[in-house]
Amino acid sequence: MTETLPPGFTLDRPARAPLDPPPSHLQFRTDQRLARVSIYDGRLQPYLVTCYEDARAVLGSDAFSTDPTPRPGMPEFPSWREGQPQGPRGFFKSYDEPVHSQMRKALTREFMVKRINALRPGIERLTDQLLNEMTAKGSPADLVEQFALPLPSLVICDLLGVPYSDHDFFQQRAKVFVDFSATPDQVVQAQKELGEYLDGLVARKRAEPGDDVVTRLAEQVDAGAITARDAADLAAFVLFAGHETTANMIALSVVALLHNPDQIPTLLAGPKEAANATEELLRYLTIVHGGVRRYTVREVEIAGVTLQPGDGVIVPLGLANRDPEVFGDPDRLDLQRANARQHVAFSYGIHQCLGQPLARAEMQIVLPEIFRRLPGLRITVPLDEIDFKQNTFVYGLNSLPITW
Ligand code: HEM
Repeated sequence: MTETLPPGFTLDRPARAPLDPPPSHLQFRTDQRLARVSIYDGRLQPYLVTCYEDARAVLGSDAFSTDPTPRPGMPEFPSWREGQPQGPRGFFKSYDEPVHSQMRKALTREFMVKRINALRPGIERLTDQLLNEMTAKGSPADLVEQFALPLPSLVICDLLGVPYSDHDFFQQRAKVFVDFSATPDQVVQAQKELGEYLDGLVARKRAEPGDDVVTRLAEQVDAGAITARDAADLAAFVLFAGHETTANMIALSVVALLHNPDQIPTLLAGPKEAANATEELLRYLTIVHGGVRRYTVREVEIAGVTLQPGDGVIVPLGLANRDPEVFGDPDRLDLQRANARQHVAFSYGIHQCLGQPLARAEMQIVLPEIFRRLPGLRITVPLDEIDFKQNTFVYGLNSLPITW
């Protein structure tokens, strides 16, 4: 007799609804708060958290681990990690306490709101410069290649003290980490190369300090607070997290706004409105769409179910962000939504996004400026022909052909 598997959990979206969460996630918008799903062809059947309240309960609890050490039952990406004796070189996001806090502390000051606010004039200048260059070349243009990707890349390179001329090198490696079709060898190789590159950079900054994050990480190495290897891993993670994510948010936001043109005046109404619009776009689009993944380390009750050590848990942030109990009419993009900022697009709890003040600042500056400068902005292909990134950790666009 064949075993009946729970429903599958995949990332595919139909061409007609590319801005809504994948149907395999939306099918769980039912009364059942904790569901079982099949991943990796049914080999794993972790719990799936279907509502906002339980998502925050899991993400805020120390009963769950993100430790990357491969363990049976851990619903890690990608599937080949499961049961591997040794994972590739780790990134600190995945560590548990107390290591996680020690590592995060090495970077906390760099991303404080006050420090990020000081970067705003530079981000405004860069926005202006890239839009000038794009419009000077004339339409049609590719918004991803000419604007959405270079802007956050230039900002993060400058912040870290990484030469922008090397961006092709690290962008290629970063792409491998988020591509679920990459093989284990490709991922290990990409991490090795990126790690070595940053090892070299940390060593250079120790010899020739600058005014940048990698220099300050190198100073913490000299002070004995972290190892040189930690410094390189931290820098690698920020480099990787800092450009893929925001670039995708910028490009997807443009698509979402052009499909909801009645919302554009709100975006342009002023800085307060643009800030709320940014939160609503983060909620509505929730680009970390594969669900954040956890592993139960002690018995804990969630939604009336007792989870046991070893149980895998997936928290689809997009489902939490479209929970009708919290966000009324959740499938509507409403830039004036009063509680938009309650979203969990940056996750929640100790692992919530460290770079969120920077991502917010970039979006708040860039989005109104694009629509102010290009009032006739249009996408040159229909929605179902846009090249969306499907099987990747962060949802987004490979390209966006525009005219104005
Ligand atoms: C719109 C853009 C972004 C989104 C939607 C986003 C989303 C996320 C999410 C969902 C997590 C938590 C994953 C989990 O709970 O397992 C996270 C963690 C993280 N993000 Fe972001 N991110 C964005 C931009 C950035 C930027 C610009 C940076 C850095 C410059 C950054 C750095 C980090 C770091 C370092 C962590 C790990 C935090 C920890 O584990 O303590 N992110 N991000």
